[in-house]
Amino acid sequence: MNIIHRPEWIIPEREATPEDVFFNRRRFMKGVGAVGLGLVAGGPGLVTRAFAQDGPDPTLNLYPATRDPDFTLNRAITPESVTSVYNNFYEFGSQKTISGAAQALKIRPWAITIDGMVDNPQTIDFDDLVRKIPLQERLYRHRCVEAWAMAVPWTGFPLADLVKYAGPQSGAKYVRFETFEDSDVASGQRQFWYPWPYVEGVTMDEAMNEMAFIATGIYGKPLLKQYGAPIRLVLPWKYGFKSIKSIVKMTLTDQRPVGFWESVGPGEYGFWANVNPDVPHPRWSQATERLLGTDERVPTQLFNGYAEQVASLYTDLQGENLYR
Ligand code: MTE
Repeated sequence: MNIIHRPEWIIPEREATPEDVFFNRRRFMKGVGAVGLGLVAGGPGLVTRAFAQDGPDPTLNLYPATRDPDFTLNRAITPESVTSVYNNFYEFGSQKTISGAAQALKIRPWAITIDGMVDNPQTIDFDDLVRKIPLQERLYRHRCVEAWAMAVPWTGFPLADLVKYAGPQSGAKYVRFETFEDSDVASGQRQFWYPWPYVEGVTMDEAMNEMAFIATGIYGKPLLKQYGAPIRLVLPWKYGFKSIKSIVKMTLTDQRPVGFWESVGPGEYGFWANVNPDVPHPRWSQATERLLGTDERVPTQLFNGYAEQVASLYTDLQGENLYR
């Protein structure tokens, strides 16, 4: 497929954000410890945005949740000062610097519809849903298809618990997710050539795997908007575009969902998108990844290092294009 309006993140990463711009910004952020401080003057011409919430967050008392020691890391956690200002959230633009624009998203009230092949279809307010399933914290690696990576503490619950809560019917084969659609607040959604709303999906087997996670928080606090508040998916063994943000709908279905990027560029982005260093993206290598917040490049791992937990999901699917 010919991608006429090529999104920034499908060009080689080094071209996407000049490293000197990115690393200078990071050094500055580190210097002032700016995240969450309000407006911070940082010298001539430099002002850093705060990430103020809409008002008192009624879920604050749920954080921090107890960390589950089974989900730990062999690399350093990427600082919040780095990950909160380097995001992919095309609803707010195709740059990494959407954190300011994303503050326009109103996350209260936030309704989530659960429908399709379920016994308990419903539309539920996020503040109710988040109290139905106990929260826990997990440390996960995250690998973007653009070959950058981070490691963060997510708070949330297993996707399997949400699927069970929905009451899956026997014919359900896939779980499909949808992001909000509101071009009044999300200027990126005025880019009419994209197939809004953002959609992603997994098989029921993937959804029930212990690694599939629904995040409502990060760094021991509710999600900031740029991370996909108030509720997002986290699939650490897949390229990051599968981890859909700001979910408003979960549908159990027997039809394989076509994801946002799969529909934009099916030759480059597929349904499975499992991380594999030996399968290059059509336009760049996936052999190594850059760790956000450092100058280091490290080898990429099969299934992003989670092969032990997830490889068995794919043993009967060898005819599929599992790594794109
Ligand atoms: N979800 C929505 N709705 N819109 C997006 O543009 N970008 C994806 C994913 N989820 C995206 C999304 C991509 S490409 C990545 S790498 C991750 O979000 C980035 O998550 P982060 O900004 O919290 O690091």
